[in-house]
Amino acid sequence: MGSASCNDLPRPHVFLVSFPGQGHLNPLLRLGKLLASKGLLVTLSAPELIGAKIRKANSNISDQPTRFGNGMIRFEFFDDETQDSSDGDWYTSHLELIGKKKLPQMLKKQEEEGCSVSCLVYNSFIPWVCDVAESLNIPSAVLWVQSCASFSAYYHYYHGLVPFPTKAQPEIDVQLPSMPLLKYDEVPSFLHPSTPYPFLRMAILGVFKNLPKNMCILMDTFEELENDVINYMSNLCPIKPIGPLFSNPKVLSSNSSSSSVSVDILKADDCMAWLDSKPNSSVVYISFGSVVFLKQEQVDEIAYGLLNSGVSFLWVMRPPTGGLDSKTGHVLPDGFLEKVGDNGKIVQWSPQQEALAHPSVACFMTHCGWNSTLEALACAVPVLAFPQWGDQVTDAKYLVDEFKVGIRMCRGDLAENKIVVKEEVERCLLEATSGPKAAEIKENALKWKKKAEEAVVDGGSSDRNMQFFLDQLTFEEP
Ligand code: UDX
Repeated sequence: MGSASCNDLPRPHVFLVSFPGQGHLNPLLRLGKLLASKGLLVTLSAPELIGAKIRKANSNISDQPTRFGNGMIRFEFFDDETQDSSDGDWYTSHLELIGKKKLPQMLKKQEEEGCSVSCLVYNSFIPWVCDVAESLNIPSAVLWVQSCASFSAYYHYYHGLVPFPTKAQPEIDVQLPSMPLLKYDEVPSFLHPSTPYPFLRMAILGVFKNLPKNMCILMDTFEELENDVINYMSNLCPIKPIGPLFSNPKVLSSNSSSSSVSVDILKADDCMAWLDSKPNSSVVYISFGSVVFLKQEQVDEIAYGLLNSGVSFLWVMRPPTGGLDSKTGHVLPDGFLEKVGDNGKIVQWSPQQEALAHPSVACFMTHCGWNSTLEALACAVPVLAFPQWGDQVTDAKYLVDEFKVGIRMCRGDLAENKIVVKEEVERCLLEATSGPKAAEIKENALKWKKKAEEAVVDGGSSDRNMQFFLDQLTFEEP
């Protein structure tokens, strides 16, 4: 707890708890910044396993309350009593055991110090936070960090409302209300009988077991983007789309240096000067998020596809960071860097939001994680969809067929021929960077950028939903 007395701190106090993943922390921090900008005290808590990485990569992370807009924000990491999350199945159960012990202690301490918590907000994979909130009589809300379409798939699966692929019938398509028909490999792959990650299915479905206990389900999406499915699901549960959080002007700007506070697990390499040196709409930005780790064979094919296409590229080749990664890093083909010269740049981690907003970026080869999806849309950057698993396969379907801003490169881990060969990589790169298809998807991307901006400004759909949540918080305040 910081040195400022709680009497000097703003209220209400919202306590955010995150699963230790970049794709979970980023939207939760953005929500924290938005709440703080509105005058609240926000504490963002996550396990020390990731806290140590975040502190190493970001020097201005502090447990002291730091002014942000009209409110304050601070960080509190808790000891999850392990250095190793490589066995994800074990780690998710371990985290639940430890978290159920530690979180009540942290919340009681807040109360003793006069900083009692008005609401707990948590993200997917840690539904037990809701049980802790209930036992302490504290209201709670989920921040769903994927699309509403994925939410609907999990909801319908959990309640057994429509048939999903089974061991006996693994290849049936799934028709969910107010959604396009999903082929079996476009359904979030954790729901598929052959998923190698059944523990993640269990962890996500836990959110649905606890759904009725929450005051609402905040979602990092916006009504105009997923209109039909949001309308449909709103009749079943209290959904509040409040995104894209990252492009909310109140998240981007503040009167303090803490606006630059990030929870990146790696320090970003400098690549903005290199982007400055490139012509407008000439560079392909390549990143597969914080968890996906491609096979070396696939990296080789992408490398040769890039070389043969001749397009400029900025490629994030993340080193292994634990979790689902392999233990050894990727290597590039012999002589690759010499042949590419200044036409390409490789980094270990990028400031992705800034990179995507840079005028020299023409398109984004992405694994279609939901954060990357929203960031691409809000920056008007068309995509080359390279989904691997989980919700990424559903996001790819929407990016290509519904939002019409992308070209599909592969279908995810259930596909038969998983490796995309260099000829196909080259063809997709050229199609996305020049010619009529490139122009068409860019035009559509620009339309989504405008709609995203309209959703988050004062009076926009996401702003109104946020206000609803804030009113509830203030109403509940003792
Ligand atoms: C995970 C899941 O894999 C994804 O399917 C789910 O939708 C969210 O949780 P992740 O794979 O990390 O997320 O992907 P994504 O959702 O795209 O989040 C990655 C975040 O890291 C983005 O906010 C992106 O801007 C950031 N990032 C990534 C960087 O800042 N720099 C990088 O170099 C790479």
